[in-house]
Formats: sequence, C-alpha cells, structure tokens
Amino acid sequence: MTLVFSNLRKQYGANVAINDVSTAFEAGMIHGVIGPNGAGKSTLINMTAGSYTVSAGSISLDGRRLDGMKKYEIANAGIARTYQNIRLFDQMTAIENLEVCAYPSEVNHTWREVFWPPYGRARAKARRESCMEILQFFGLERYADVEAGSLPYGRQRMLEIARALAMKPRVLLLDEPAAGLNHHETAELTAKLAELRSPDRIILVVEHDMDLVMTLCDRIVVMHHGKLLFQGSPSEVQASSDVQLAYLGTDNDIDDIRAAAQDRRAQLGIRARQRS
Ligand SMILES: Nc1ncnc2c1ncn2[C@@H]1O[C@H](COP(=O)(O)OP(=O)(O)O)[C@@H](O)[C@H]1O
Ligand SMILES: [Mg+2]
Repeated sequence: MTLVFSNLRKQYGANVAINDVSTAFEAGMIHGVIGPNGAGKSTLINMTAGSYTVSAGSISLDGRRLDGMKKYEIANAGIARTYQNIRLFDQMTAIENLEVCAYPSEVNHTWREVFWPPYGRARAKARRESCMEILQFFGLERYADVEAGSLPYGRQRMLEIARALAMKPRVLLLDEPAAGLNHHETAELTAKLAELRSPDRIILVVEHDMDLVMTLCDRIVVMHHGKLLFQGSPSEVQASSDVQLAYLGTDNDIDDIRAAAQDRRAQLGIRARQRS
C-alpha cells in the first residue's frame, strides 16, 4: 500500500503553501514530516484528509485518487487524522468519542440496527468492546465514561489518536501529537506509536520533537517554505547540511541573530541604568 503525492501544490491567494511536492509513503513504516513553522506540514495533512482542496497535482492511495473526493469519502477510503490543536467532542465521554467514529465502512448496517433491536444491541456491544480495547491500549480505560473535555491535556492527546484508530484506518495522519506533552508523556506516546507500526498501515507523523521523530520514524521528509527539501532515513536527515541550514539558518543569519541579541541586551541595559 502506498500513498503518493504527485506534483502537489496548494495556493492561498498569492501565498504558495505547497510547491510541487512529489513523494510516496509506504505501509509498514512510520514516516516523519518535519520542517520549520509555516513550512506546509499541516497543509499536507489537511489536503490528504480532504479538509483543504488541492490546487494542482494529485494525492492517491494505491492508485486511487483521493483529491477531489468528499471528506467522508476519504474517511471511508481509510484515512484518519488528528489535529495540531485537539478537536475532541468535549461533551461526550471518552468512549463515545470513539464509538461515533467506529466502523465507517459498515454504515449500511444502520437500518438493520434500527428495525431489528436485538441486532442493534449486539452490534452496539461489539462496537463498545472494540472501542474499549483501543482505550485499554492507550491506558485510557478508566476514563471511558469521563467527559473528554475534562480529561487532563496529555490524556486528551492520546484520546484523539485512539479516536482516529477506532476508524480502523489504513492511513493514520498525526499532526504534532506530542505538542504540549511533558517529557514523560512524550516517551509514553513514542512507545505507543511504535506499536502501531503495521504492514497494513501507513503512519505519517508531523512533529517538532526531534527525539520522537528520530527514535520513531523509518523515513523522514523535510519541508521548507512549501518545498520538499530532503528525504531520507533519520541518520541521513541528521547528516544533511541542507536540513541544518533550514533549521539553523546560514552563518550570516546566526551572526545577525547574535548581533540583534546584543543590541537588545544593550537597550535593556540602558533602560535599567535610566531607571536607577
Ligand atoms: N487556511 C489557510 N488560509 C491561508 N493560508 C494558510 C491557511 N493554512 C495555512 N496557510 C499558510 O500556508 C503556509 C503553511 O502553513 P502550515 O501548513 O500550517 O505550516 P506548518 O504546519 O508547517 O507550520 C503558511 O504560510 C500559512 O500561513
Ligand atoms: Mg502545522
């Protein structure tokens, strides 16, 4: 199974957010997408999940075009995602968050559930058990009947991934899953995500936490100003001077930053002296 971006482009008015990006993501691997803020990482996820339209080029899963499909069609094709800013159903319990997203491919069973109550009850029980298993995997079972909005932040991050998994996705897109997590929670998340690596699944992780990316990912795509700057294994990415420049700037930039910092210190020093 392969997710392919071909000459992908996204433009917002005059702003080109994604510029001619071509790459492929294989099942069985965890793919990292890194790059400075504004590089276009979330835009890639938003286009793949159908939240944003594609300006040019294509996105396909095993040769089937996803761009141009409706959002629910893309979900039914097996694409699930989490958001850079958590978007749970806050008023629903943890398990309800999963239940409403479970089994999108079996939607046509709904009428039987309605007209034949025992069938509906059996299906609801099976659905709850399957969702409970996912909660257990994330250590969230004791929160099953707790409102999602009242969970601690770190648990909400986990719950969002659990909800995406309830869709039994073939492609799992995670937008900064470690954002706002502490060191311990990030390590816990990294271990859980590693367990999700599967020959039947493509996992794509957009992330700033370099420890997580370098530990977890098999391949890494580096984005910079909407372009694909580099792709390779974690060690190839770490060794790339292009990547270092994108993150750290050129030597001149570093000199400029140092000079600006000295100016700022000088200004503060002057003000401190004036006050005394
Ligand atoms: N809905 C939008 N409307 C207009 N511009 C957007 C929108 N979403 C993202 N952009 C722009 O696209 C570029 C890439 O943004 P984004 O994909 O969010 O970057 P990243 O996730 O790498 O930080 C930025 O210049 C951003 O301002
Ligand atoms: Mg982003």
